[in-house]
Amino acid sequence: MNMSVNIAGVEFKNPVMEASGTFGSGMEYSEFVDLNRLGAVVTKGVASVPWPGNPTPRIAEVYGGMLNAIGLQNPGIDVFTKRDIPFLKQYDTKIVVNVCGKTTEEYIDVVERLGDQPADMLEINISCPNVKEGGIAFGQDPKAVEAITREVKAHAKQPIIMKLSPNVTDITVMARAAEAGGADAISLINTLTGMRIDIHKRAFALANKTGGLSGPAVKPVAVRMVYQAAQAVKVPIIGMGGIRNADDALEFILAGATAVAIGTANFHNPYATVETVDGIRAYMEKYGIEDIRELIGAVR
Ligand SMILES: Cc1cc2nc3c(=O)[nH]c(=O)nc-3n(C[C@H](O)[C@H](O)[C@H](O)COP(=O)(O)O)c2cc1C
Repeated sequence: MNMSVNIAGVEFKNPVMEASGTFGSGMEYSEFVDLNRLGAVVTKGVASVPWPGNPTPRIAEVYGGMLNAIGLQNPGIDVFTKRDIPFLKQYDTKIVVNVCGKTTEEYIDVVERLGDQPADMLEINISCPNVKEGGIAFGQDPKAVEAITREVKAHAKQPIIMKLSPNVTDITVMARAAEAGGADAISLINTLTGMRIDIHKRAFALANKTGGLSGPAVKPVAVRMVYQAAQAVKVPIIGMGGIRNADDALEFILAGATAVAIGTANFHNPYATVETVDGIRAYMEKYGIEDIRELIGAVR
């Protein structure tokens, strides 16, 4: 039985990874999860310099998920290449480095400095709703998506995944723009902008006022967007948004995702990724599926 998938020439032993920002670089989770069993580890977003993130409180629970406004806190590329990449290199898994920036130049700087690093792919986050400049400002305008994709692609040594925002009217326009700019793959969805108000304090639950909604509540929106994007572009898609287990992951694969990522679910079940790998295998055995590729986009 074959569970491996190929994205832009990179071979993943199975289609399951975790979603950026919910797993660090796997250090804490390596106590629970054998990282060798994952298709890839996707790192937290890394910028050219350290970012302190947003003021607290910056997470809030909501029905069916959570809101976060971390604001891409990260130690910067220098610490990251010294600490996180050597840690991940110990494992037999692919390394996907998530990149963030406030300007095109900042994205390019990080991408160039990753050029000689043993990262397998770069995931370019142009969809974070929690930073004022950059991030989502790029991800909501198709011309900007195409332009930044082209710039990053011109400077990247590794294949690039453009991570798209769901906070748009028509996801197919953004998917096509990324493809036109030369993206090797796209990933979606990032979080949906939301808000929660604490009625007892009569104040916003998050210091940032708004935050990104993630978790099971967003899954039907994510599956719909993955399906629409898969109909619109030829590049492979990494699907995410509310996946908790193999059943959820299989919905994304059947909708057209070549691989899937698990985010918020890791917070209450640190075994969610490996359980999903096992569950997909059990599903394939049950239905006599020889190759996972038979399932990708099988529902049209
Ligand atoms: C606490 C938190 C931090 C996140 N940080 C990042 C990040 O650094 N870069 C990024 O591209 N996405 C980030 N995301 C978005 C997730 O990678 C994912 O796209 C989204 O949460 C939907 O998947 P889920 O419902 O499985 O969490 C973050 C999400 C959460 C909940």
